[in-house]
Amino acid sequence: METDLTVKLEQIKKKCLNCQKCDLCKTRTNIVFSDGVPNNKLMLIGEAPGYWEDKKGIPFVGRAGQLLDKIFECVGFSRNKDVYICNTVKCRPPENRNPLPDEKEACREYLDEQIKILNPKIILLCGGVAVQSILGDVGGITKVRGKWFNGSEYGLENTKIMPIFHPAYLLRNDSREKGSPKWLMWQDIKEIKKEYDKL
Ligand code: URA
Repeated sequence: METDLTVKLEQIKKKCLNCQKCDLCKTRTNIVFSDGVPNNKLMLIGEAPGYWEDKKGIPFVGRAGQLLDKIFECVGFSRNKDVYICNTVKCRPPENRNPLPDEKEACREYLDEQIKILNPKIILLCGGVAVQSILGDVGGITKVRGKWFNGSEYGLENTKIMPIFHPAYLLRNDSREKGSPKWLMWQDIKEIKKEYDKL
């Protein structure tokens, strides 16, 4: 049975399917709107679709996405039952470059609607682009990852926000030694699970 949430999200998705607000519409194969389960607990916002996401119309399905799934699985999360996943922009930037400010601006209303409809208790900002979009200039990802930000300071009442490393960055940094990006991600995902379990 369709829930109220899914009906509302479908309406936003329909708007995206016809969207021509920025030039990314000219090069996209598919809109990449979301994956996972619409729920009011855990939402992850990534940067932008890459090659495979654009081909399949699903976020985080390439190598980085597979690593993200493994990280979730380590603490018992699964995208099929616990997490709603989307990106700051819904269309792939050519050559996987970072989305431009006007592209993020054009797509922002869709992301804002997704957040408003779900009203999640926890938002994970995956990588620097997502952090900049939601929190503004709070510092680089290395400085802010693993920190909780109070959503009420960003217009999101009752939401806790945590920046985390992007899995693509972890793929480039293989070490698991204490203090390495992978080790830090492990600390962060454990902290996220701890907070999630209190909900
Ligand atoms: N990287 C992202 O930030 N989002 C995706 O959907 C895929 C890769």
